[in-house]
Amino acid sequence: MKIALIGYGKMGKAIEAAALAKNQKLGKTLYEIALKIDIDNRDTLTLEELAQVDVAIEFTSPSTAIRNINWCFEAGVPIVVGTTGWTEKLEEIRQYATTNHKSFLFAPNYSIGVNIFFEMNRRLASIMNQYEDYDIDMLEVHHTEKKDSPSGTALHAALDILKRMGRKSDWVNQATDEKDILPIISERVPNVPGTHVVRYFSEIDDIELKHTAHNRKGFALGALLAAEWLLDKKGAYSMEDVLGFNKD
Ligand SMILES: NC(=O)c1ccc[n+]([C@@H]2O[C@H](COP(=O)([O-])OP(=O)(O)OC[C@H]3O[C@@H](n4cnc5c(N)ncnc54)[C@H](O)[C@@H]3O)[C@@H](O)[C@H]2O)c1
Repeated sequence: MKIALIGYGKMGKAIEAAALAKNQKLGKTLYEIALKIDIDNRDTLTLEELAQVDVAIEFTSPSTAIRNINWCFEAGVPIVVGTTGWTEKLEEIRQYATTNHKSFLFAPNYSIGVNIFFEMNRRLASIMNQYEDYDIDMLEVHHTEKKDSPSGTALHAALDILKRMGRKSDWVNQATDEKDILPIISERVPNVPGTHVVRYFSEIDDIELKHTAHNRKGFALGALLAAEWLLDKKGAYSMEDVLGFNKD
């Protein structure tokens, strides 16, 4: 599988390392990193060069993701997107991909563990909707270079809660006393790959759902899995589709 890495930063490099480790384990070349595209060579690459790969994996920045997605659509290359912080345009891109038979997959978090956390979060929110003595808050902690806040992962989990929780109408990225608002607290601490906590608390007890990433390997392996899965699909997908979870 010929891969174009669009964005060769922390995640691009982690995906390359995971791909090479997988090849070594299998004793054959399953993944070939055919193109490494970063800010310094992005504009010198032609559409024809990009079209040579089987799939692109995009981890850049909120301001560049959409241009890269459209570039892959134009080249007819399936694209797996990990960049967060641009998702006000997600629905538009998903609709375009579906209508025009493009291959597009976005996940705010590719780690299998986080996707299990999402699944448990949806189930817990449906249960806790009936127990009005509990209030809810969320915490996310990331490294200090992270550009978006709250994290795409926290936002995804928050929207899943809001869908299921009658007593919350919206989220806010700070502490709040407003009873119908779900607070998401963001902390930035050097070298933290990503920690997320959903907490239900009452006078009697607390229930916490927590995911702690120890490194970037989980995101990288999940993105490679998603890329392989997407190869023969047309339309817009998410990691829930890859893993067979029900997101509704
Ligand atoms: N979905 C997930 O599982 C997941 C996991 C980790 C990080 N992320 C997100 O992925 C994104 C990248 O994270 P990172 O930690 O690798 O960041 P990073 O800053 O280490 O790397 C981003 C790279 O993209 C390059 N870049 C910028 N503009 C570009 C362009 N137009 N074309 C090509 N390359 C360009 C930069 O030069 C840099 O090397 C962020 O939005 C982050 O929040 C998502």
